[in-house]
Amino acid sequence: MLQSRSPQRPDDLLLEVEATGAEGVAAAVATARAAGRDWAAAPALERSSVLTAAAEALAGAAGEVTELMVREVGKPVSEAAAETARGVGILRYYAQQTLDPDGETYPGPGPAALLLSRRRPRGVAGLITPWNFPVAIPLWKAAPALAYGNGVVLKPASEATALALRLAEALSPALPEGLFQVVPGGATTGTALIEHADCVSFTGSVEVGRQVVMAATGRGIPCQAEMGGLNASIVLPDADPGRAAATIAGAAMGYAGQKCTATSRVIVVGDPAPFTEALVAAVEGLPVGDPAEQRTVVGPVINEPARAAVLEAAGQAAAAGGRTLTGGRAGDGAGWFVAPTLVDRLPPDARLAQEEVFGPIAVVLPAADEDEAVAVANGVRYGLVGAVFTRDLDRALTVAARLDTGLIRVNAPTSGVDYLAPFGGEKDSSFGPREQGKAAREFYTSTRTITVLPEGS
Ligand code: UN1
Repeated sequence: MLQSRSPQRPDDLLLEVEATGAEGVAAAVATARAAGRDWAAAPALERSSVLTAAAEALAGAAGEVTELMVREVGKPVSEAAAETARGVGILRYYAQQTLDPDGETYPGPGPAALLLSRRRPRGVAGLITPWNFPVAIPLWKAAPALAYGNGVVLKPASEATALALRLAEALSPALPEGLFQVVPGGATTGTALIEHADCVSFTGSVEVGRQVVMAATGRGIPCQAEMGGLNASIVLPDADPGRAAATIAGAAMGYAGQKCTATSRVIVVGDPAPFTEALVAAVEGLPVGDPAEQRTVVGPVINEPARAAVLEAAGQAAAAGGRTLTGGRAGDGAGWFVAPTLVDRLPPDARLAQEEVFGPIAVVLPAADEDEAVAVANGVRYGLVGAVFTRDLDRALTVAARLDTGLIRVNAPTSGVDYLAPFGGEKDSSFGPREQGKAAREFYTSTRTITVLPEGS
């Protein structure tokens, strides 16, 4: 039995539901596959208007979806509202992508001959998604999957089950029956989905992502996995300390740092003291509290083990000789609150500087010069986002070009993504083709090459 509870009020039980067994998953995939046949055959203009209607349906339910997001996963309401709006934007964007050219032409063997490539759907996309972006991530996978003619079966994180079901309910009046299925459950349900889907898109931890990739590639089906991050923000000596600190504090601690794009390492070139002071002030100024309040930036972490992991990491860093600049303790009240935590005086090979914690905790690391900053930034197994803060364009470009990450930010937070541009990382952060924007087509379609010759040529 799955239970979903509110992180700010753990006695608030949102939902209890039976996990979908292997047979239920097989049936959901079969239903989505059957619905997908007509869907793939439908004119692109029709698919486009259906996705537009889905966007409008979600827009109509936006207030309720946002409220449920705050309650189920503790996302501060201003971020939650922005995420719901992002979900609507993603659906609208892929409604238009449906009308893009669906292939290419090549010079054929004669003036009347045609040599073409065309995109065709893969069948049923199996989506395995996390709780931290419970609307945006399912939609940035489902919208392109649907746009390019696939059926969808979504296995949401159990912590976000109520929201996934609400999302499906909101979209269902707009979508053909059976095309978009949700299978609540844990690992067993996810494993069954990988066994039946025609392609699998996953977002979550490196540990689980590796297993997903092995299982999917073992079946010979396409797989993409977005996994962890341990993102560095490099602050060069000429950066405005106040402005950089405000941006980095938000990127590290917003939604209690529970983003694979969060900043967890702050690398300060030159004397770290003035910037560190500004960063501590910025972090301490972030409103912590009830995520239902408009001003809140840092709410609780998702559950008790998540809070224990942050506190354990903070304790371990202190035991390893690190200095706790702020935080390092549980927050007040019944929910899973942790004070935003900054640690410095740790070497770059310390555990906190090497392993993702997925909570409101970051480490400040000094670097003598840009070379050392780049070496420290790249000296981890992750490679999702890298940021540089400076007013010097030349240095920004030179440092950024040396970062081994899929996303580069200059004077911008590591967190936050643009759904119209490709998204994904290097090294252990990602596997397979990029998500989002026009890049998503690569994953949700295969290419067929077609030769047409005049008879008798
Ligand atoms: C964002 O920063 O807006 O799971 C999105 C995650 C990332 C998405 C981040 N895949 O945190």
